[in-house]
Amino acid sequence: MTHSAQKTQKNLYIKTWGCQMNVYDSHRISDVLKPLGYTLSDTPENADMIVLNTCHIREKATEKVFSELGRLKPYKEEQQKKTESRVLLAVAGCVAQAEGNIITERAPYVDLVFGPQTYHRLPEMVSRLTGERRKKRVIDTDFPVESKFDSLPEEQNSQGAAAFLSIQEGCDKFCTFCVVPYTRGAEYSRSLQSIVDEAHKLVDQGAKEINLLGQNVNAYHGEGLNGSTANLPDLLYALSKIEGLERLRYTTSHPRDMDDLLIQAHGDLEKLMPFLHLPIQSGSDKILDAMNRKHTSDHYRESIQKLRKARPDIAMSSDIIVGFPGETDEDFEETMQLVRDIDFASCYSFKYSARPGTPAAAMQNLVREDVKTERLTRLQELISEQQYTYNKTFMGKTIPILFDRKGKEGSKSAGFIQGRSPYNHAIHVKGQDRLIGQIVDVHITQTRPSSLSGDIVTSEYESSDLKTVVGQN
Ligand code: SAH
Ligand code: SF4
Ligand code: F3S
Repeated sequence: MTHSAQKTQKNLYIKTWGCQMNVYDSHRISDVLKPLGYTLSDTPENADMIVLNTCHIREKATEKVFSELGRLKPYKEEQQKKTESRVLLAVAGCVAQAEGNIITERAPYVDLVFGPQTYHRLPEMVSRLTGERRKKRVIDTDFPVESKFDSLPEEQNSQGAAAFLSIQEGCDKFCTFCVVPYTRGAEYSRSLQSIVDEAHKLVDQGAKEINLLGQNVNAYHGEGLNGSTANLPDLLYALSKIEGLERLRYTTSHPRDMDDLLIQAHGDLEKLMPFLHLPIQSGSDKILDAMNRKHTSDHYRESIQKLRKARPDIAMSSDIIVGFPGETDEDFEETMQLVRDIDFASCYSFKYSARPGTPAAAMQNLVREDVKTERLTRLQELISEQQYTYNKTFMGKTIPILFDRKGKEGSKSAGFIQGRSPYNHAIHVKGQDRLIGQIVDVHITQTRPSSLSGDIVTSEYESSDLKTVVGQN
C-alpha cells in the first residue's frame, strides 16, 4: 500500500486575489472540497492541492498569476515526492475564465483550470485527475445553465463573526472598461429563501454581520415568496428580522440601481450599517457616457443627497478611474469637483488600464502615462485630506466595534485583534482574543490621517492597556 492510499486527510492551500466575491468563492471552494478530505491550510508547504483564485480587473493580472505559479511549482513537486501521489495545482477565478488556454500553454504543470461558475463541479474534476484513468489536465470554463448555488453544499467552514454571502453574480451593464461581464457572465440572482436560509446558517456558525455580495448587488431581483420577484430592499427587510444578526452591509452597488426604496431602507433599518460603497468612476458626463455608465454626475449627487437625508451619518465611499481614453484636463477637474462636493469618507482610485476584449481597449485619444500619474496623485491627495477630516469627527466619540479575527502572523497586525466600526473603519486592538466575535464599545481618543485610536469602554473590559488603532481601508 502506498503512503498516499493511507492518507485520507489532505491539505488545501488557497491564495485569493481580487474582490470580496472572490474571497467568498474561496470559502465555498473549501466547502466543496471538504467532503473529499481537504482541510484548509495557510501555507503551500505540504499542500495536496493548491488553488490560485485570480482577478483580471487591471493590468498585469495574468503576469502575477504566472509568477505565483513559478513560485509554487517547487511546493507541488516536493509534496508529490513526499506523498508519492498527485498534488493538484489549480487556477480559478477571473483570469482562469478569461485566459484558461494561455495558462496551460505557458505553465503545462497546471493540472486544473476552472472558472467562477463551475466550482460546484470540483469533486468530479478532482476525481478525473486523481482517479484510476487519470486525465492529464482538466479545463472547465463553462457558464453552466444549472445554478452553481443550488448545487453547492451547505457551509462547512465557519467564516466567523463577519461573513460574506453572495446574493447576485455577473453583470449586464457592460461598462466599456470592464472585464467583469465577460469573466462572470450575465446577471443571476439567487432566490430570497435560499439567501435567508444561508444567512441563518451563518448566524448559527457565529456570524453577527453579513455583507451581501454581488458585482451589481443592487440590481438584485431574485425569486421572492409566492412567485413574486424580490428586490434588494425586500431582502434587507427580511434579513433584518433574523435574531442574532446585528449588522448588514451590501456591496458593490451601481448608481443607476440606487432607487428610492433602497434609500428608504437605509433610513428604516437600524441593522443596515451607515456605510455605502457607490462607485462613480468619473465626475465628467462626457467620460461617464464613453464609459457606458448610464448615469450622470448630477444623478449621483442627487442620490447621495437623498441617502444623507434618510441616514444623516452615512459614510460614503467610491471608486474612480483617472485617464480613461479622451479624458481632458477639464474632465478631470470635473472629477475633482465632484469629489469636493460629495466629501467621501474613503475612496479608491485607479489609473485606467486597457483590458483585452473590452470596447475601451479599442478607443483612441489615450491619456499619457505621466498625465495619468499626475492626476492620480492630485486626486489621492484630495481623498486623503477628506479621509483625515472625516476621521477627526470621531474624536471623543464612542463607537461599537465588531471584533472578528486575529491579526495575521508576520504582518503589522500580528498580536492584535481586528474589527470594524459601523462606518467600515478597520480597527486593531492589542491582544484580547476573548473579544473576537463580540461587539464592543471603543472610545476614540486620537485621530490620524488614516487611523484612529482609543480605549475599550465596556466596564467588563476596563483596562488601560487596551489601546486601539482604527484604520480606514
Ligand atoms: N461592480 C463594481 C466594480 C467592479 S471592479 C461597479 O460596478 O462599480 C472594481 C473597480 O475597479 C471599478 O469600480 C473600477 O473603478 C475599477 N476598474 C475596473 N476596470 C478597470 C480598468 N480597466 N482600469 C482601471 N480601473 C478599473
Ligand atoms: Fe464592471 Fe460596470 Fe458591471 Fe461594475 S457595472 S461590474 S464596472 S461592467
Ligand atoms: Fe477581479 Fe473578477 Fe472580482 S476580475 S474584481 S475577481 S469579479
